[in-house]
Amino acid sequence: MRNTFLALFLIGGLTSFGQVYLDPNASIDDRVENLLSQMTLEEKIGQMTQAERGSIGGQGDSIKQYYLGSILSAGGSSPGTTVASWIEMYNTFQAQAMDTRLGIPLIYGIDAVHGNNNLFGAVIFPHNIGLGCTRNAELVEECARITALEVAATGMDWTFSPCLAVPRNERWGRTYEGFGESPDLVATMAEASVLGYQSDSLGNENSILACAKHFVADGGTQNGSDQGNAVISETELRNIHLFPYYDAIEQNVGSVMASFSSWNGDKCHGNGYLLTDVLKNEMGFEGFVISDWMGINQLGDFKSAIAQSINAGIDMAMQPNDYIDFITHLTALVNEETVSMSRIDDAVRRILRIKFQLGLFEDPYVDNSLADTIGCVSHRNVARQAVRESLVLLKNNGVLPLSKDGTRVVVAGSKADDIGVQCGGWSISWQGSSGDITPGTTIKEAVEEVVGSENVSYTASTSIPSGDVAVVVVGEFPYAEGAGDIPYGDDRFYISNSDQQIIDAVQSAGIPMVVVLLSGRPIMLEYLIDDADAMVAAWLPGTEGNGITDVLFGDYDFTGKLSHTWPRDEDMVPINEGDGSNDPLFAYGFGLDYSATAVSEIAQYEPGNAFRVYPNPVAENLYIDNESGNVIDVSLTSLAGELIAQFDRTNSNSIQIPMNELPKGIYLVTIRKGNGITTFKIIKD
Ligand code: BGC
Repeated sequence: MRNTFLALFLIGGLTSFGQVYLDPNASIDDRVENLLSQMTLEEKIGQMTQAERGSIGGQGDSIKQYYLGSILSAGGSSPGTTVASWIEMYNTFQAQAMDTRLGIPLIYGIDAVHGNNNLFGAVIFPHNIGLGCTRNAELVEECARITALEVAATGMDWTFSPCLAVPRNERWGRTYEGFGESPDLVATMAEASVLGYQSDSLGNENSILACAKHFVADGGTQNGSDQGNAVISETELRNIHLFPYYDAIEQNVGSVMASFSSWNGDKCHGNGYLLTDVLKNEMGFEGFVISDWMGINQLGDFKSAIAQSINAGIDMAMQPNDYIDFITHLTALVNEETVSMSRIDDAVRRILRIKFQLGLFEDPYVDNSLADTIGCVSHRNVARQAVRESLVLLKNNGVLPLSKDGTRVVVAGSKADDIGVQCGGWSISWQGSSGDITPGTTIKEAVEEVVGSENVSYTASTSIPSGDVAVVVVGEFPYAEGAGDIPYGDDRFYISNSDQQIIDAVQSAGIPMVVVLLSGRPIMLEYLIDDADAMVAAWLPGTEGNGITDVLFGDYDFTGKLSHTWPRDEDMVPINEGDGSNDPLFAYGFGLDYSATAVSEIAQYEPGNAFRVYPNPVAENLYIDNESGNVIDVSLTSLAGELIAQFDRTNSNSIQIPMNELPKGIYLVTIRKGNGITTFKIIKD
């Protein structure tokens, strides 16, 4: 439990007692109004200001001096590697806030975007692109619930997550932060993840405040440029990018972060139509809007930028280092009546309401009892399940599943033994980095756990030891935000030369090869698919590498389905489901499994069914012979149920399905006969 006694003790003076805003039994609206009515302009503007932990003095001196309402830890900004160092920092800062005249607690925010990823030793979940592939909203909710617990254990109250971007162009360096290219998928996961962070009430123990970001169309910019310009109609903005916010609001998400990006040339940070008319008035968002990191500064001259953005609807300003200038300018703007007092009151009301809902006035300090749960086995097991379910099997010629008994496995590629690479960006540091950044299980270690280290030969070079099968791990090095953008012609869209050399070396050694790809987006691999016997897209799985071996060795089947359409080459980007492009390398939703690999075998002569399907395996055209004449019609649909072709065969004896015109993937063939319906899956690979 948080320390209530300390809270009462530290509130500034006896005059605070008997105040409505301090009465937990009073309604939140009454508490907010009571407190607001006592606040000076200085105190109100303080509530609207968020500074970075590194810039406020070690004891958080500025908090008291400027009545700061919020502090953040930027990506990688941490007080130390121990949980105790976080708790101590939080309590020290909070004590400063509680020691102000009205004792208004701080709200502390952090980018816990795939676990409490700034904290050494916390469990790190797959990035959202992988979670999207699970299609398992309950699991996503559980991952967020655990993240909330590991965040609350350090005292933090608020995560800048979930990212509700709908990334439509994989050149974007933040593609992996979104759940996928489909607004429906993002909406489903948005709801699950907000519920996981906030539970059904912000007041519940271990709930933290969620933040839906970045509002709006951050994933729709031209050329996938980070912080770029989305040149799209309002219909497209609404149908694709705004869409998931409805679900987040329905789930009572308490904060929304404005996007650095622009819509048709206008920066979202200054767009009153989007922030106030649409988000607050039309969609009914009752929480508060936070600006992104110095996002206000991007509007131009700082003072005018503050006027524009606060008037547009920003309620709290993330001004990591220049918060004093922000306070000075905003104070002047109110005094000059460029920003109205009612706008300030609206912003402060929204912020205070959330602080009351979170129970911060009652329990401002850290609950020490949660520290042991950080990175615990049960949390890691959920992350392991998330890894398993996020994997997408792109190809398997039968080499998978691997046998555990006596198999000598060559594990190749330095990325096979690199926690940092498998975690990606936003892991311990902002950009992430290669290396032993935090405890976890690498893919190599996970293989060793299954077959015994004596049966594993690991190589990071092109000198390949002998073995029965090779697991080759290739992919991207960590990056975050704009640093991950891939401009035209940049070869980061392709497997690196060093990865390619390892693949070539394994191939020359003649060892069957399973390629595991670690990446934050689909990368170009059409030619690689031919080289590999099996290919698995593992995205950025996080700390639990055993989720990968669980599936490679057949303890679990593959269930992951692509959350992005996979282009054949970079000229095909952008390519998204439903946009009329019909020749991707793998369609949105594609993903093989062990049973599907065998399913094409059932597409053979079945006397009882009185029809014949051939050839097997499916190649260019698929023929269905209506041998008994009782086939009425045949339909071909995608796995998602979308009708692709339908043939009325009452007058003919043979149906031809032009598989060569369809993307690779799994299809359902439904045959309606005189005596019933038969459905089976076929693979085009
Ligand atoms: C990012 C946000 C993040 C913020 C705080 C910005 O650079 O765009 O997503 O929440 O930093 O770390």
